[in-house]
Parts: sequence; C-alpha cells; structure tokens
Amino acid sequence: MSDASLTEPNPVTESYHQLHRGLGPVNLIMIGIGSIIGAGIFVIAGTAAAEHAGPAVLISFLIAGLGCLFTGLCYAEFASMIPESGSAYTYAYATMGRLMAWFIGWNMVLEYLVSASTVSVGWSGYFVSFLHGLGITFPPELANAPISGTSFSAIHLSGAIINLPAVVLIIALTVFLVVGVSESARFNALMVMIKTGIVILVITFGLPYVHVANLHPFIPPNTGTFGKFGISGILAASGMIFFAYIGFEAVSVAALEAKNPRRDLPIGILGSLAICTVLYIGMAVVLTGITDWRTLDVANPVSFAIGKISNLGWLVRWVDVGALVGLASVVFVSLYGQSRVFYSMARDGFLPPTFSKVHPRFRTPHRGTVITGFFAALLAAVFPLDILAELVSVGTLLAFIAVCGGIMILRITTPKAKRSFKTPAVWFVAPAGVATCLLMMASLFRSSPDTGSRLVLWTVLGLIIYFVYGVWHAAPSKWKVANE
Ligand code: ALA
Repeated sequence: MSDASLTEPNPVTESYHQLHRGLGPVNLIMIGIGSIIGAGIFVIAGTAAAEHAGPAVLISFLIAGLGCLFTGLCYAEFASMIPESGSAYTYAYATMGRLMAWFIGWNMVLEYLVSASTVSVGWSGYFVSFLHGLGITFPPELANAPISGTSFSAIHLSGAIINLPAVVLIIALTVFLVVGVSESARFNALMVMIKTGIVILVITFGLPYVHVANLHPFIPPNTGTFGKFGISGILAASGMIFFAYIGFEAVSVAALEAKNPRRDLPIGILGSLAICTVLYIGMAVVLTGITDWRTLDVANPVSFAIGKISNLGWLVRWVDVGALVGLASVVFVSLYGQSRVFYSMARDGFLPPTFSKVHPRFRTPHRGTVITGFFAALLAAVFPLDILAELVSVGTLLAFIAVCGGIMILRITTPKAKRSFKTPAVWFVAPAGVATCLLMMASLFRSSPDTGSRLVLWTVLGLIIYFVYGVWHAAPSKWKVANE
C-alpha cells in the first residue's frame, strides 16, 4: 500500500528559501515566551481574581492552560508536518479548503495585529505610570485614544488626541523587525530574559509571604450573577485568563526561518507553553496569597500586591520594568507573527503580492511588516481597544478550534503521512482541545454579549475583502495531501 504524505512547495519555483533560516530551538522557545508573558499576567489576572474567581483564579489558570496544552500538542503535530509561516491559516487551507482558510487567516489578524495594538495600549498605560513614579508627567491627551467607550452604544470622543507612546513603541519595534530576523531574535531574547527573570524574582521572594488565610474561601460563593464567583466565576475568569496564554502558537509562524523546523517547532511550542504554565501557577499563588484578592482590580496588580509587603519595596520598581519589557515583547512577536501570516496568505494569492516581497538584504518581508506596523499603530493611536480586546481571545480560540479539528481530519485522510511529532492520544486530546476552547468562548460570550456582534461585524468585513479580492486571486493550497 502506498504511503500518504503532504507535498511541499518546490523550493526553487516557490522562492521558498528567501527568508533567512537563523532560528534554533532556544530562539524558538524564546519567541514563544516573548509572545506569551505580558498583559495577561501583569494586568488581566488581577481583574479576573477580584471580579470573577477570587483565589480560585488558580483553577481558571489550570483550565486555560489545559486547553492550550491540548491545542499546543495539535499545533506541534501540524508544525512538524507543514513547516510554513501561515500557521493555523496554512493548516486550515491544507485540510478544510479556501473559504475556511480565509476565515481562519482573517481571525488571525485579531490574534496578532489587533493583539499588538491592544497590548501596546496596555504598555502605554504602564509607561505613563512608570514615568509618573519618576516624577515625570506625560500629557494625558497625548497618551490616550481620542475615541472611547466600552460598547457600540457608548462610543464617544474622549478629548484626547493620540496615544503617542503606543504608536512610538510599534514604530520602533517595526523598524527592528524589518532589519532582520536574527537581530530581532537577539532583541527578543534579551527582553525575554529580563521579564522571565523578574517573574522568577516575584515568585521566589513572594512565596514566603503567602498567607493561607488570604486563600479562604478558595471559591467565593456566587453572588447570583453569572460569572461573579462560584463555578461560573471560575469559567468566566478562564475565558479572560486565556489571553495570558496566547502566543505559544506564534512559534509556528517562524517555520520558514527555523533551521530545523520539523524537529524544533514542536520543541518551541511545547517548551514555551510548559515554562509559562509553571510560571503562571507560581504567579497566581503569590498574587492571591500575599494580599486580599478583592483589592486586585487595578492596572498594575502585581506591583500593587508586592508593594503591600514592606520588606519587598525594592522589588516594586523591578516588577514595573518587567511589565514594560514583557508587554513590549508581546507586541514585538505579535507584529512579527502578523507579517509572516500575511506573507503566507499573499503567497497563496489571498492578499496582494506586496505582502510577500522579501527585502534583498534584510531577507525579511519588509513591506508586509511596515503595512502591519502601520495598521497596528493606527488602531493603537485612535481606537477604543477595550471594544476589540475580547475579540483577540475569540479570534484566537477560533483558530485553535480549527487546528484541533484539522489534526483529526489529517489523521483520517493521511494516516501514514510523515509526522516528526505525533499528538499523543489524539482522539482524546484534539476533541478535548475543541471542547475546552468552546467552553472558554462561551464564557466570553456570556459575560460580554457585545463580543458576538463584534465578531459578526469582523467576519462580514472579512467576507467582503474575500469576495472582492481573495476569491479571484487565490491559488490552490500548496500543501496538498498526496499519495506517494
Ligand atoms: N499572552 C499575551 C499577553 O498576555 C497576549 O499579553
């Protein structure tokens, strides 16, 4: 019986090697951590505990982490089979056809580009308060979006002009990304070492101050409203906490720049996810154990909690530095990821070819990177990103569901294809990944009903672009299932 495998694009005719292959397994783990640890742990975890789950936010971290583990295992198998920079978009194209590929690719704009804008706005807030701590006041009208409001009906002008720090951050990071992938990887590694080091400091010095009394009752009783403590609160918090884990999948967009993608991408995906999960559990214990969780709904919950321990005053400034560097590295890898996904989509014809042009000297998709940076900066400058923030999680969850579904399809259609990494117990892991992601999605829809209509609006916009451009230009997927 003949062996089944995926046919890869021809390296010569597809100008397949234009991007520079400079990334090893450690770089790839760094890309994952760079993209994972950010606003989720430094900002959102406080609100999730104070408003939804109390100390049981620990269980929310476990639920979200488990969902990501299941999905990460499926990503790892795909990445070992289809080493292409489009990630979930390419996997969907190889398994589910053109329209589904576009749908997933379009949602990945939420996962990367909109996420970069959202986190850069969070960074701007931290930056301004950091300057404030140094006695410098940044003009508020230059550090906030001119449009404000948390729902469609409440949109209004805020009186501010532009969120300048967020724009400057995105421009600076875009320049780095254009200059070269190895330079970018070194810059990213430096940021990762700083923020991981500070997270480890918080855990090490915070743990001795954990008081069991702060963790009682572990699951505060539900107040009568869905998502306000109790079991539904844990679920609502897991939907929010999911944001903290987004990023491990960004490793897979580095496929064309990895030295040995089939072996190293799974290492990068699962390695970064494992490291961050352990760090997150430690942070969650410290955060809710050293102070009263009811006080944590602040913009800087980690430094706020550490600041309550008089012996740890010296650590507060460092935590803020960790948050600044952490959020910046998330923006950095998100911009990187988006430019690579656009690169793949343009190579397939879904987007104009300019997105797949590679700079002859820097060997990066410079135009796509600049366009990505432009739109991310525009969103960060003027838009009310709280409206879009939950969309980031929902868009990412959709991509995750497609990956878990796609891996099952490939196991049926090409059971004998070469897989450098095989998802263990796939018929449990992949459905469990789908179920956990659906659970988190449902909890997001339930606690923020506006999210559904925003997703519909986003999908309609995507479909218009698809029918105006993509459907006329898209070539068949290069990753066709074939029998050898
Ligand atoms: N996981 C990333 C963060 O928490 C998106 O900022």
